[in-house]
Amino acid sequence: MALKFAVVNQKGGVGKTTTAVNVAACMALAGERVLLVDMDPQGNATSGIGLDKSKLDRTIYDVLLGGEAIEDAITRSQIEGLDVVPSTLDLAGADIELISLISRETRLKTALTRIEDRYGWVVIDCAPALGLLTINVLTAARFALIPIQCEYYALEGISQLLRTFGLVRRELNPELEIARVILTMFDYRTRLSQDVVREVREYFGDLVSPTVVPRNVRLSEAPSHGLPVILYDPRSKGAESYSRLAAEVMRFGQDRTG
Ligand SMILES: Nc1ncnc2c1ncn2[C@@H]1O[C@H](COP(=O)(O)OP(=O)(O)OP(=O)(O)O)[C@@H](O)[C@H]1O
Ligand SMILES: [Mg+2]
Repeated sequence: MALKFAVVNQKGGVGKTTTAVNVAACMALAGERVLLVDMDPQGNATSGIGLDKSKLDRTIYDVLLGGEAIEDAITRSQIEGLDVVPSTLDLAGADIELISLISRETRLKTALTRIEDRYGWVVIDCAPALGLLTINVLTAARFALIPIQCEYYALEGISQLLRTFGLVRRELNPELEIARVILTMFDYRTRLSQDVVREVREYFGDLVSPTVVPRNVRLSEAPSHGLPVILYDPRSKGAESYSRLAAEVMRFGQDRTG
């Protein structure tokens, strides 16, 4: 059965998609079978992994709202072992469209249950929001990865995020657990980055990953080539930190689940 990780933070631009794409790719390149699920209408994970959004047959929207089988939305990526359930702007209305539907919080979970024996790992990229799409992700996932950008107001919105976790745990998914808090876009030259690292470590303690992702231009260039950084520039600092993070996340998942 696949171990499912949600990459979540309702704050925008903190490195969720970069983390989801690169962790999933590193897992696959380590020989694992991985499914990357794009739950963001922006579809950045979809294009970032190299899929052409204009050529998609079925997307996560069709699965959540169109009654289509998730099998039909699974698309191969160019990386051996890595499949994608893509997303496009269609999904933008889903938060509202879901409201009136039966089992509105559990649709993703139900869909993933059908295919999870095909994969070792499922990595789900969230939109910067805490609406029903993200609730679906938190209901389906066993673990959460929370990227936090080393910037001003890094912890802004975190208490709301943790409250949502509490609600989901109580009502929908008692197993949900924070696996790692990941510091992203760290700039070793600035005092600010160092202050944020200290502040986040004080707040989250051991949940903070020892792997801090540096600000690295290769990480921001790679998506426009439709490549994870490990293929775009395997020797970059970004590639190095995401391979380390992927290994750490897999070790964590295996330890937790025996
Ligand atoms: N470590 C990094 N170094 C340099 N650039 C980065 C790094 N991580 C992310 N970026 C860039 O910062 C921007 C935001 O990152 P990303 O898209 O991963 O954030 P996000 O949390 O998914 O955003 P959104 O909330 O809009 O979905 C992107 O342009 C990305 O390429
Ligand atoms: Mg994103």
